Amino acid sequence: MVVLKTGPVPVGGVVLENHLVLAAGVLGTTGSSLARMLSLGAGGVVTKSIGPVPKDGHDGPCLAVLDDGLLNAMGLPNPSQDFVAELAPLAKKPVVISIFGGDPEEFAAVAGWFAGTAAAFELNLSCPHAEGYGAAIGSDPALVEACTRAVAQTGLPVWVKLTPNVTEITGIGRAAEKGGASAIVAINTVKAMRISTELRRPVLGHGFGGLSGPAVFPVAVRCVYELYEACRIPIIGCGGVSTADNVIEMMMAGASAVEIGSAVYRDVKIFETIKASLYAKDGIDPAGIVGCAHG
Ligand code: SIN
Repeated sequence: MVVLKTGPVPVGGVVLENHLVLAAGVLGTTGSSLARMLSLGAGGVVTKSIGPVPKDGHDGPCLAVLDDGLLNAMGLPNPSQDFVAELAPLAKKPVVISIFGGDPEEFAAVAGWFAGTAAAFELNLSCPHAEGYGAAIGSDPALVEACTRAVAQTGLPVWVKLTPNVTEITGIGRAAEKGGASAIVAINTVKAMRISTELRRPVLGHGFGGLSGPAVFPVAVRCVYELYEACRIPIIGCGGVSTADNVIEMMMAGASAVEIGSAVYRDVKIFETIKASLYAKDGIDPAGIVGCAHG
């Protein structure tokens, strides 16, 4: 397997401590859990998505553990502006704040609360099961461009997390780039459902939800590959990454870094495990493999 040399990783306006970033939604709801993931080897962390008003989320069950992934419909539960206080102990750390809103004005308002505390923002334009938010607006290129521009006006780097649940993801990536994004994150979860044959009803309270974990890795690789050909800004690969070889594969498709979520749910020490196989002092320059699968 290809092994990389160690060193800081500048990507999308943020200097990461390595190529591995905690994805939004897993252990990202408190300052102390974010600090813990940094201490357990994450090169950067993304918070749980924060929105314009506090939200309890969908009725349960909100999570189903499947053989090859996780199916969730949390419903974007979050404390809204109260979350600002959680971040005080993390000043100057590579903490990216995931935010959502229903329109560009709401995105700008939420971003404004965090000016001075964020290393960057990640716009959740991709949650597949939050009416009026996420993919509901992130499937429209004009809205993606407008929301990105509204947050870019803060002067902080903006990462835009894309939905795979569209016919043509490259058009959405280009819209984010046009709006002033510093990086694209691909992908959020794949819209999915399971039904309990015993109960004769969907396993999730919300009915359908978002699938993550190894089952979606090939979808994520395909999206990163297509975006690399369509966009110039860096891409952060996300979706089912659970091994060092998965990281290398994502990078060969075009990712400059990767986010890891579901694998953390299964093993909180996954960052150190992957780093042990991914890096060596005599490893190669990572820049040499980003996008190399394109020939
Ligand atoms: C949720 O909180 O519902 C999950 C967030 C997401 O899918 O973006």
